[in-house]
Amino acid sequence: MGKEIQVLRPAPDPGRSQMYNDNALKIGFFGANCSSGRAVTLVSERWTGSWQDNLELACLADEAGIDFLLPIARWKAYGPRGDYQAATLETITWATGLLATTRRITVFGTVHAPLFNPIMAAKQMVTADHIGDGRFGLNVVVGWNEGEFEMFGVRQRDHEARYQYAQEWLDAVKLIWSERENFDFAGEFLTHKGIRAHPKPVGRSRPLIMNAGASPTGRAFAVRNCDAFFTNVMGLSIAQQSVAVRDAKAEARTYDRELEVFTVGVVTCRPTVKEAEDYYHYATEEHADWTSVDEILAAKNITASQMAADKFQKLRRQQANGMGGLPLVGDPDAVAGQLAQLAEAGLRGIGISFVNYRDELPYFCDEVLPRLKRLGLREHG
Ligand SMILES: Cc1cc2nc3c(=O)[nH]c(=O)nc-3n(C[C@H](O)[C@H](O)[C@H](O)COP(=O)(O)O)c2cc1C
Repeated sequence: MGKEIQVLRPAPDPGRSQMYNDNALKIGFFGANCSSGRAVTLVSERWTGSWQDNLELACLADEAGIDFLLPIARWKAYGPRGDYQAATLETITWATGLLATTRRITVFGTVHAPLFNPIMAAKQMVTADHIGDGRFGLNVVVGWNEGEFEMFGVRQRDHEARYQYAQEWLDAVKLIWSERENFDFAGEFLTHKGIRAHPKPVGRSRPLIMNAGASPTGRAFAVRNCDAFFTNVMGLSIAQQSVAVRDAKAEARTYDRELEVFTVGVVTCRPTVKEAEDYYHYATEEHADWTSVDEILAAKNITASQMAADKFQKLRRQQANGMGGLPLVGDPDAVAGQLAQLAEAGLRGIGISFVNYRDELPYFCDEVLPRLKRLGLREHG
């Protein structure tokens, strides 16, 4: 296992073209399928995550030239009080509904390999791909949240074994999508007999595959198997980001693969820097949902007793701000400038979130996208 299986490679066919367009920096919205999105805040205007709001957001994003929509794979709220991300739309069905309604945007499903039977997942994803005429993308995650695994009655494996299982799972999915006919799959974890699956993904290619991970093992999994690695660059200088991107791409080439690196950001864009900073302070500090922040950190075994008080407070603030995404706070020039720096470091794209996606989308699209076009990073403003 671990060797790339020879299947049809993703091709820039018309349906998939949004992720193979000439936008040097692809921009997507991340996390809208969950209530509160990525912002761990209690402000009243926080994102509802309702289907109607998602639909409206997707149609506006499609019109505005946003490249992709990426959901969070989340099954229940954090902690016993359960306010943050209390309502979560399952991601493949969410993507399918949005693909039926939009025309050009790529919509991902974020899929927990250990929680989905690979045949079922492969069939659901192909169905979504056909409904979207080749615009479905797979973001595969191994998961980490014990409470979710307990809810499913699935034992969470140790860290290395999670990725060994994911390797087999993804090998199986790719084979199911390939032209192979009537075959058995016998791995260490999975056994399937007489696999036949039609239709195949649109256009004799396959959906773009991304992996969201953080550890060296997660990165190695992406390098070996995926078209894109979705990871956090918080705390890395631009020079360090450049090295990280260059190394990941170079390593992927040793497997004869082209890998793109995407990251995650949280945008607070207002007409002036002061307005943006004031709103950031209001939503992310004054009205942060600190109880949920502490519950999320505790689920990752991060508590005050383990570290210096200032380090713990810094982690709490980062978590409140979009679950640790890169904060992009400022006027349109500042936000466009920060995004341009990421592109300079070699990052191919970013999944961004807002406190309220629908309300903040028009200003971002009207003011930031044209600046990125002028900087040569986007085809259309
Ligand atoms: C940018 C990013 C997005 C992620 N999105 C999800 C998600 O939607 N659902 C989830 O359960 N885990 C998500 N994860 C967590 C990963 O699945 C993984 O468990 C976690 O990053 C630990 O990484 P590692 O296994 O490489 O150590 C995400 C991780 C990153 C870095």
